[in-house]
Amino acid sequence: MTPSTTCPSTQPPGTFNPAGLISQRALEIDASGIRKVFDLAAKLKDPINLSIGQPDFDVPEPIKERAIAAIRAGKNRYTPTQGIGELIEPLRRAVCADTGWRDPGVLILSGTSAGIMLGMFATLNPGDEVIFLDPYFVMYKHLPRLIGAVPVPVNSYPDFRLHPERIEAAITPRTKMLILCSPNNPTGIALTPAELQAAADIAKKHNLLVLSDEIYDAFCYQKHHSIAALLPEQCILLKGYSKTYAMTGWRLGYAAGPKAIIEQMTKLQQYTFVCAPAPAQYAALELLHAGSVDMTSHVDDYRRKRDRIISGLSAHFSINHPDGAFYAFPKVPGSLTATEFVNRAVANNVLVIPGNVFSGQDTHFRLSYAASDHTIERGITALNALAEEIAG
Ligand SMILES: Cc1ncc(COP(=O)(O)O)c(C=O)c1O
Repeated sequence: MTPSTTCPSTQPPGTFNPAGLISQRALEIDASGIRKVFDLAAKLKDPINLSIGQPDFDVPEPIKERAIAAIRAGKNRYTPTQGIGELIEPLRRAVCADTGWRDPGVLILSGTSAGIMLGMFATLNPGDEVIFLDPYFVMYKHLPRLIGAVPVPVNSYPDFRLHPERIEAAITPRTKMLILCSPNNPTGIALTPAELQAAADIAKKHNLLVLSDEIYDAFCYQKHHSIAALLPEQCILLKGYSKTYAMTGWRLGYAAGPKAIIEQMTKLQQYTFVCAPAPAQYAALELLHAGSVDMTSHVDDYRRKRDRIISGLSAHFSINHPDGAFYAFPKVPGSLTATEFVNRAVANNVLVIPGNVFSGQDTHFRLSYAASDHTIERGITALNALAEEIAG
């Protein structure tokens, strides 16, 4: 990374250089890992693509129809910043029923990402520390830095479980937030009730705000548990539509949390995202009718694909048992780094993501099984062949 040393006033008149105007905070965000994989993908013909972080099915028809009807009915204008009342109120009731919370605030978001950002912007001061497990979803590391806050990844290798003593050891007087992501991207691990209780106890003891990213809650191949039920109004609960209903391009999610914090997030949304897309909000009303959209067959399908990935790769790879999402995070065989391994995989037409995109370590790789059975079978064959080649 080359620091920006040029500021506008140092540029002589008539020598406008946009590259010299880039802020330090933008320069400090390194997107090269993922970008490299996508650049490589563009060069391959018919790649075995196991790198995709979104479902391989399409948005269910009733949701599409509802969005189309909303657009035709002129629901194309700004909505209230916090979202449309018809959606907020049922969501608030559902959060209360699920968590036992009494009076949470609810904010409809332009995707869960917006909730991660607004939650941080509403609560973190420069120097405040944010703890999360390593491997992590990339935003957890980069967004605190935009505010001058300090990301504190806590190693969860080799089992990717929540180790309370490691979290305790990372806490300082500046720790303000603990981020949990269950089921997890990139490991697929879902936290058990005991792990959630341990995290809740730590949060209570140290007065931490928990940001609970539950975007993969529908893809949990066992009962999904949320820390929200253990921490009444001490967490920002983030839910999304992107993964559950394959609506990644529609940009819709919601946050529930303490009213004082949700009010500040709403104020910040007013000056950033303004509101979540109106047709997507109206389309989400379709999901309030029980039984209108049933995703069970897709979840069952992904459970089967998870099982196939584990059975297909475990002879050659040390692979954790993902409980949810649609990712596995196998260890690279032999002594290669994950980056070296991914370069070799790409040379064999397979696209996966090196672990250092999600971690301080470069020892594992993320593969997504949100892919067709055909792609998964081709991927298993190619990855096993590569592991045999590496073993020599
Ligand atoms: C853990 C996690 N949180 C949040 C997001 C962002 O989702 P959204 O599309 O709702 O902004 C993703 C997307 O990949 C994710 O993996």
